[in-house]
Amino acid sequence: MFVRALQLIAREKKSGIVAPGSLGFVNAFSSASASQSQRLAGKVAVITGGASGIGKATATEFVKNGAKVVIADVQDDLGHAVAAELGPDAACYTRCDVTDEAQVAAAVDLAVARHGQLDVMFNNAGIGGNPVPPPLGATDLADFDQVMATNARGVLAGIKHAARVMVPRRSGSIICTSSVAGVVGLGSMGNLAYSTSKAAVLGMVRTVAAEMARSGVRVNAISPGAIPTPLALKTFAVWFPGKSAEEVRRIIEEEVNLMDGVVLEEEDIARAALYLASDEAKYVSGHNLIVDGGFAVTGSAK
Ligand SMILES: NC(=O)c1ccc[n+]([C@@H]2O[C@H](COP(=O)([O-])OP(=O)(O)OC[C@H]3O[C@@H](n4cnc5c(N)ncnc54)[C@H](O)[C@@H]3O)[C@@H](O)[C@H]2O)c1
Repeated sequence: MFVRALQLIAREKKSGIVAPGSLGFVNAFSSASASQSQRLAGKVAVITGGASGIGKATATEFVKNGAKVVIADVQDDLGHAVAAELGPDAACYTRCDVTDEAQVAAAVDLAVARHGQLDVMFNNAGIGGNPVPPPLGATDLADFDQVMATNARGVLAGIKHAARVMVPRRSGSIICTSSVAGVVGLGSMGNLAYSTSKAAVLGMVRTVAAEMARSGVRVNAISPGAIPTPLALKTFAVWFPGKSAEEVRRIIEEEVNLMDGVVLEEEDIARAALYLASDEAKYVSGHNLIVDGGFAVTGSAK
């Protein structure tokens, strides 16, 4: 996923250990101190992948800012729990496998049936695929198809069905989760399917932005750096076999991080999504908001 991580893997393979990071863990952000204003008052959002990680943090941030949210995911227990936490008036959960267009359409229709409109579609559900893909000659196209079906085709289904209900109202914000992996090349150790799927998301956003702009709907992407969500923890655990969960988390937070004393958290992506969802971003469309502490423009240097 990230060049720095790959360098660390190479170093670990050579020395047998991962050098401890020089960074202290200083959490400079307090989610509890997030805006008390109601930047999404009266707005209705569907969040795919909303049961965990970035999606869950975004559902929480959106509700805090006055939105009603539909959490669409395949993890039913987690999804119901998140909705219950946020309160039955503000949030509900629906099972929605984004690889099935009909289920994405149904999640959008549920939002409209329940709340009368859809203002924000956050196409965020994703999978990591095989963290250690085989050499190119042995590429498993079935694995590639599965990652593309979720991360790219699932996003396209979300854009399509959000537009179906937003365009007639000439209003709405569609946000799609890409990744730094879709922005910069990661060399021969990059995950082909994952990087391709995330680059495809950026291609979709750029391609539909003009048509959507003429229809009064904005469409943007967010490209996060590494955050220790279940998806990333699973990937890094494969890259760093034998490491404890705590050690893997530390590697993500300290080693795959260019910024001194600041750690990237789900809430940082949630606040980026909040901006793009809100009317403060009324003229922002076709944009890729990279939230990576400078990784994409800096390369692997720390
Ligand atoms: N964590 C990172 O380092 C990182 C970095 C860049 C981009 N991202 C992207 O952020 C997005 C959210 O991931 P996360 O890091 O919060 O991980 P996560 O594992 O916490 O959340 C992903 C969610 O997507 C759901 N999901 C997976 N397949 C689905 C499907 N077919 N239909 C519906 N839901 C499905 C999962 O059940 C899960 O709740 C993903 O698109 C991921 O690629 C993550």
